Amino acid sequence: MTTTSIAASYERDGFVSPIELLSEAEAVALRADLEAGEAELADQPDKLALLRGNLPQILPSFAALVRQPRLIDMVSQVLGPDLLVWGTNTFIKEPRTPNHLSWHQDLTYWGLDDEQELTAWVALSPATTASGCMRFVAGSHARPIVPHVDTFAQNNMLTRGQEIAVDVDEAEATDVELRPGQCSMHHGHLFHASGPNSSDDRRIGIAVRYITPAMAMQGGERPLASLVSGEDRYGHFELMPPPAGRLQEADFARVRRHQAIMRPILFQGADESKRG
Ligand code: NI
Repeated sequence: MTTTSIAASYERDGFVSPIELLSEAEAVALRADLEAGEAELADQPDKLALLRGNLPQILPSFAALVRQPRLIDMVSQVLGPDLLVWGTNTFIKEPRTPNHLSWHQDLTYWGLDDEQELTAWVALSPATTASGCMRFVAGSHARPIVPHVDTFAQNNMLTRGQEIAVDVDEAEATDVELRPGQCSMHHGHLFHASGPNSSDDRRIGIAVRYITPAMAMQGGERPLASLVSGEDRYGHFELMPPPAGRLQEADFARVRRHQAIMRPILFQGADESKRG
């Protein structure tokens, strides 16, 4: 896909997929680095969660991924040349498990004050209908944030099991299948969901949340973010450097501090006692 068609397709549909980003060998190497980190931290659940939630701040290989020139070029077609990574999530669905994500719009509970955001979702294993790939409703990004309800449903991987409270027509949804190394990009207002993994492999994807530096937190908080392209003329976030090395103590401490700032924002107004 050319960069022109990427921008046009994103504007029309609210997403672009599939995009060729990495070779299969590069995707395999990233997965191996992640899984080596998981093995090294297997008996330290706190650090394991920090690793999965902040891969580009803990592993240099993922710091390079979010700065990959081709990826930056594609994201810049939509958001312009100045880019921050506001956060990342690693969505791992273990083989034959019921974990899923209900229909939602990403920007509902993130506390950001505008919509100059997009997610690049990079597949590190096959994302297929059987393994629980994402499903997108084309054109739904043109809607404002619609009401969501907190379900705290078991096996829902979202922070509060949030679910769009209006009817979503399943027939209008597109399954976004990706081979390892391919990625998709989607708008923060796009209706999307994903099903359980009925395959025999782990379904692993990293969701990279890019924003423009003009974006700010509604409450005036100043969480940490990474400048990955161009300049930040706003100072709405505390900029953090790439990781000093692999699984470094100082890098864990930094993302721990970031998560302490973000947690009350992500759960604002939720009844946390309902969490299972
Ligand atoms: Ni989402």
